[in-house]
Amino acid sequence: MLLNKIEAVREEVKKYKKEGYKIGLVPTMGALHEGHLSLIRRARKECDRVVVSVFVNPIQFGPSEDFDKYPRTLEADTSLCEKEGVDIVFAPSPSEMYGEGNRLSNDTLTYVCPPFFYVNKLCGKSRVGHFDGVCTVVNKLFNIVQPDIAFFGQKDAQQVVIIRKMVKDLNIPIEIIQCPIVREESGLALSSRNKYLSEEDKKEALVLSRILNNIKICYNKGVTDVSALKETAYSYLTDKHDLEYLEIVDKDTLEEKAKADDNTIVLIACRISGVRLIDNIYLK
Ligand code: PAJ
Repeated sequence: MLLNKIEAVREEVKKYKKEGYKIGLVPTMGALHEGHLSLIRRARKECDRVVVSVFVNPIQFGPSEDFDKYPRTLEADTSLCEKEGVDIVFAPSPSEMYGEGNRLSNDTLTYVCPPFFYVNKLCGKSRVGHFDGVCTVVNKLFNIVQPDIAFFGQKDAQQVVIIRKMVKDLNIPIEIIQCPIVREESGLALSSRNKYLSEEDKKEALVLSRILNNIKICYNKGVTDVSALKETAYSYLTDKHDLEYLEIVDKDTLEEKAKADDNTIVLIACRISGVRLIDNIYLK
């Protein structure tokens, strides 16, 4: 069932709660692909009722980012959700979520701001305010749907760490489940933004997963020095790859380390023909 109004979702959810159903929430911005569907399938496994939100959240995009051209394919998304047995697709308008008028600033809107330590690195460094926008909308979705479990992808690993931190710090009674990254056979991590890539760009985009895989291979061979591991990336990079960051940090706290260990994650962001792509890998 496709719902656009907060009150309509609340009413439906109230019925689920009355029945004692376990409710799962999968927050998305739509343009659904197999990565999103893997979250939905996991939610179906774990829960009695599944709500998928489809909302291109304006407050998590910077002024020069791709909010306007972000792919919007609600009809296709809804039919995919139907096929997967989703109970509610919640697709509100920006004004339904944030009210009419000029409310999209922290002059007039209450924001949930995750701690500086977590946002002042990796994607947060170039996307100032991004995680404030993510935490604000996710918190709103949590309050509207009141799920027992919410499902997120490892693809956005920093996002999951920050959401877990928010849940802990604000005592939100929701379990967070992280699902593995779904990739094309080539190794390219699925992303709604892959739609911006030409076939040629897609080949170039394989540099992300290649760099990550190679670092893991080196780690498994015994290299633990983080600078040495990072240096292995340079032989892969050409002028077609505009590297934004390559970081090797603790997978739970995002703290930098000098030596990699089994609790380490390697994260990369790189632009290919102007399209910003991210990927990551656990060393174990
Ligand atoms: P979106 O980019 O649509 O992603 C929705 C969810 O799908 C996220 O949890 C993301 O990590 C997961 N996902 C995307 N690609 C994946 C892949 N290849 N494999 C596995 N999971 C994948 O992330 C957002 O939307 C937004 O920030 C949101 C949380 C909805 C808040 O607006």
